[in-house]
Amino acid sequence: MANSKNPGKSSASTVEILHPFHHEVFSASRAGHLDSRLRRFIYRPDRLAERYVKPGDCVLDFGCGPGFFTREFAKKAGDTGSVIAVDLQEEMLRLLREKLEPEGLMPRIRTHQCAQDSIGLSPEWDRKIDVAFAIFVVHEVPDPKKLFREISSLLRTEGLLFYSEPPFIVSGKEFQDNLALAQEAGFRVIESRLFFVNRAAVLRKE
Ligand SMILES: C[S@@+](CC[C@H](N)C(=O)[O-])C[C@H]1O[C@@H](n2cnc3c(N)ncnc32)[C@H](O)[C@@H]1O
Repeated sequence: MANSKNPGKSSASTVEILHPFHHEVFSASRAGHLDSRLRRFIYRPDRLAERYVKPGDCVLDFGCGPGFFTREFAKKAGDTGSVIAVDLQEEMLRLLREKLEPEGLMPRIRTHQCAQDSIGLSPEWDRKIDVAFAIFVVHEVPDPKKLFREISSLLRTEGLLFYSEPPFIVSGKEFQDNLALAQEAGFRVIESRLFFVNRAAVLRKE
């Protein structure tokens, strides 16, 4: 059941009640694994950005970690676009800033440390996001239903959400259950695909 060795806030029992599938938070002490060359070769974050991000877009990278995908989203969004990189762990955001500052990408990126149960961006961001990514993170969130609602509020109408989970952690049932929660929050699944070996779906805000 819940395995919440979280650097965060909720007690395990609260987490279990909110979401029985909740898994352990990926520790920032292992952030190096998220930034390897092998991973870049496998996931081709540049191609993901090419496919879903347009120049000038406002992008949300929820659960950004040390910025493995954020870098390519920021490059593709360009000078006229922006990326909001959100993570629970300040250490992940620090690593992201340290890595992307020398590349000159930080003027396009805003980092935001969220609480475990809420993104908590101010209402001025409502309907401002063009495309959101939640990659390998929703299973670590105690209340995915609330998360999908928050992402839905942040996206403009017809904005996209790319959602992916690793199959060795998230079962097909859990993934489908989460897609149902996303649909309740106002999304429609427009594409089901594999992201390397991972379950993935693209959803559009109705
Ligand atoms: C497995 S890592 C994936 C990072 C990044 N998406 C990638 O694939 O390179 C999961 C990330 O989600 C973050 N995370 C976990 N629970 C979260 C929450 N409730 N809200 C925001 N971020 C969270 C962790 O701190 C970690 O950086």
